[in-house]
Amino acid sequence: MKINSICCLGAGYVGGPTMAMIAAKCPDIQVTVADMNEGRIAAWNSDTLPVYEPGLDDVVASAIGKNLHFTTDIRGAIAKADLIFVSVGTPTKSYGIGAGRAADLRYIESAARLIAEISEGHKIIVEKSTIPVKTASAIKTILAANSTEHATFEVLSNPEFLAEGTAIEDLETPDRILIGGEITPTGNAAVEALASVYANWVPREKIITTNLWSSELSKLVANAFLAQRISSINSISALCEATGADVDEVARAIGHDSRIGPKFLKSSVGFGGSCFQKDVLNLVYLCDSFGLPHVAEYWRQVIHLNDWQRSRFVEKIVRTLFNTVNGKRIAILGFAFKKDTNDTRESPAIYVCRDLLGEQAKIALYDPQVSPEQIKQDLLEAGVPQHIIDTNLEIHTDPYSTVEGAHALATLTEWDEFKSLDLERIYNLMLKPAFVFDGRAVLPMDKLKAIGFDPFTIGKG
Ligand code: NAD
Ligand code: UGA
Repeated sequence: MKINSICCLGAGYVGGPTMAMIAAKCPDIQVTVADMNEGRIAAWNSDTLPVYEPGLDDVVASAIGKNLHFTTDIRGAIAKADLIFVSVGTPTKSYGIGAGRAADLRYIESAARLIAEISEGHKIIVEKSTIPVKTASAIKTILAANSTEHATFEVLSNPEFLAEGTAIEDLETPDRILIGGEITPTGNAAVEALASVYANWVPREKIITTNLWSSELSKLVANAFLAQRISSINSISALCEATGADVDEVARAIGHDSRIGPKFLKSSVGFGGSCFQKDVLNLVYLCDSFGLPHVAEYWRQVIHLNDWQRSRFVEKIVRTLFNTVNGKRIAILGFAFKKDTNDTRESPAIYVCRDLLGEQAKIALYDPQVSPEQIKQDLLEAGVPQHIIDTNLEIHTDPYSTVEGAHALATLTEWDEFKSLDLERIYNLMLKPAFVFDGRAVLPMDKLKAIGFDPFTIGKG
């Protein structure tokens, strides 16, 4: 089966960049990204894309208007597609059974119902969203129960492994493409059809095929292993601080062991992002549901350690500032959950700022990409009262005005521009003692000390 027309439901951080890459690499395939969010679709069709991602503008520009289209006409996009990616959100459920752990599958279900209602002929439905294992079975049931006799479907799992900030690189040269399908003649044909799309630019040996359940589960497990590595090194950061060891030196020493490897050993104020916490919680919920409480408890600790890492950073600030930050000005550099993205979902900065505001500190904040509206909305959603946001939060467009008159400076995102700040100038602008709390180890400790700062870096004793 040759794919001529692709549709993607969901124009978010995954749907937009992934479809732009497919369109750029497969000029013979028409790619339509459909979303009901009119503002988002308008932004994709404008010069200011809704997602900040290095290299993305060029990839979109190379295909938009030719074989890449962004639309709110979801029905029309489904009708003409041979293959439909479902790339809608799967957030943690906030209500009812499984609240706080299970994935909320309402967007997946409504997408499946709409596909069933509109489809004629044969279509391949691809789970791109991260979902609990066995979701394909629910999708198949919904499709079978709601479609006409003229429609047939094959459901595949094709999880996405891109990381924000490096999405274009990850999409262009992925470590692997994973495709799970039913082991039947039609299932195999569908897997081959999707594999052929990727084979336009990904070497065949990097395209891994498995059964549906292995593919669905592998996505959750990959994120759980990555999150676990960060919690592991963060647990050691506390021990380093207590003993005089240096967590970066420990990471380098263990990372030279080829069995351990050097990546994902950067200690931090905690991992953020829309997926690690959500997917580990989802795994925990699945284990509990399948009667495996010991396995659930093992993975739950990855989240507990991450929560503790954020809160102990706030405690460190409060204790160091003579046990009170009431009325004190704390300068915060960075709000995004990592550098090179404007995404703030589950950013540790949200929780650090919330807790400092709870201690009645005044916050001055600078992030090169996150909008003031987003910062205020995140803090409001995290429980900070509106009047506190109005009176105790200042958002700046320049790092130097941010630190003016500050009792302390905290770095919460590892933006490259923070590495080349004029530290003498910052020292002169701050109150003394000039405390620095480097939650990302981006500032040079020795230089800070030489200038006269009183610095603390996570994981450095
Ligand atoms: P997102 O919230 O940025 O985008 C989801 C979009 O889907 C929204 O714009 C929403 O309006 C749209 N949508 C919802 N229902 C729809 C429907 N029926 N038809 C059309 N559009 C619909 O989410 P995201 O970050 O792109 O993540 C999507 C999925 O990919 C999630 O399951 C996530 O876990 C997974 N994932 C995300 C990343 C990442 O880096 N963000 C990486 C890998 C996997
Ligand atoms: C992560 C995975 O890396 C992707 O493979 C996956 O596709 C994606 O989740 C997803 O499913 O959404 P992402 O969250 O975009 O990607 O970014 P990461 O680079 O993984 O960083 C996540 C968080 O961990 C960030 O807050 C980052 O600062 C932190 N981190 C990362 C560390 O604290 N230390 C490290 O060594 C690495």
